[in-house]
Amino acid sequence: MQEAAKTTLSRAGRTGPIHQAHDGRAVAVDVQHLVKTFGKHEAVKDVSFTIGKGEIFGLLGPNGAGKSTTINMMCGYLKPTSGDVSVNGLSLSEHVRQVKRIIGVVPQEIALYKDLNSLENLNFFGKIYGLSTQECKQRAEKLLNFVGLYDRRNEPVKTFSGGMQRRINMAIGLMNEPEFLMMDEPTVGVDPQSREHIFTTIEQLRDQGTTILYTTHYMEEAERLCNHIAIMDQGKIIAAGTLEQLLALRDQQQEVQRRMAYRNCLSN
Ligand SMILES: Nc1ncnc2c1ncn2[C@@H]1O[C@H](COP(=O)(O)OP(=O)(O)OP(=O)(O)O)[C@@H](O)[C@H]1O
Ligand SMILES: [Mg+2]
Repeated sequence: MQEAAKTTLSRAGRTGPIHQAHDGRAVAVDVQHLVKTFGKHEAVKDVSFTIGKGEIFGLLGPNGAGKSTTINMMCGYLKPTSGDVSVNGLSLSEHVRQVKRIIGVVPQEIALYKDLNSLENLNFFGKIYGLSTQECKQRAEKLLNFVGLYDRRNEPVKTFSGGMQRRINMAIGLMNEPEFLMMDEPTVGVDPQSREHIFTTIEQLRDQGTTILYTTHYMEEAERLCNHIAIMDQGKIIAAGTLEQLLALRDQQQEVQRRMAYRNCLSN
């Protein structure tokens, strides 16, 4: 375990995928050298990682780390300055339409029509995904049950609490039954009960085989949900691995700091 943590540490910040497929799982998502520049500012600096099929991969980092910019490139919303992403072996740059069919996104900003009710919102986005009226109806009803809001289906979304709106935002990301779902800080501003509901829903999706990328500011959320975690800061992945590997890395760093403090103490 310590060895693995060292490997992670030694590769952190370097070019190339610092997080490779693992556990013998097939690779579902392969992020290859993504770079995004806004004017002179390089928001994402050569980010590479892979996500195994059916895992929850956590992307953890502070404000401005580059998490949303990475997701926006991975879902085709932003064109990368360079680099590419492939999902199930299909390159996003070459097969954008096919890839969009198998991915879903829950954006950081809640994107709902607040005067419409939740059923109408889901139907609207279902139509955008190209679903038939019948498919929209079936999926919308199923998803409203899934996120625990079926009983409120006919009420305008503007009357919902922030946590409930987040749950509808999530249901929209699931309308096309994605094989790969990206969730950008889905629990921001959500009370503990709704947060727990969101976590349970994510775990159910994982159990059904969905591959998930989950971004957050909070290590405890990543610990609770993710088999593998990458820590991003200032546009780079600075460490990556399993939770155990990252904790071992932290323990190693704390041990080094403790020894240095002890030496300083002796030399004074
Ligand atoms: N459209 C844009 N134009 C210019 N700069 C941008 C744009 N989008 C993002 N940035 C910059 O890129 C950097 C990364 O932003 P990003 O939104 O990806 O961070 P984040 O990790 O998602 O942060 P947060 O946790 O606050 O959501 C920031 O410095 C931000 O100001
Ligand atoms: Mg963000």
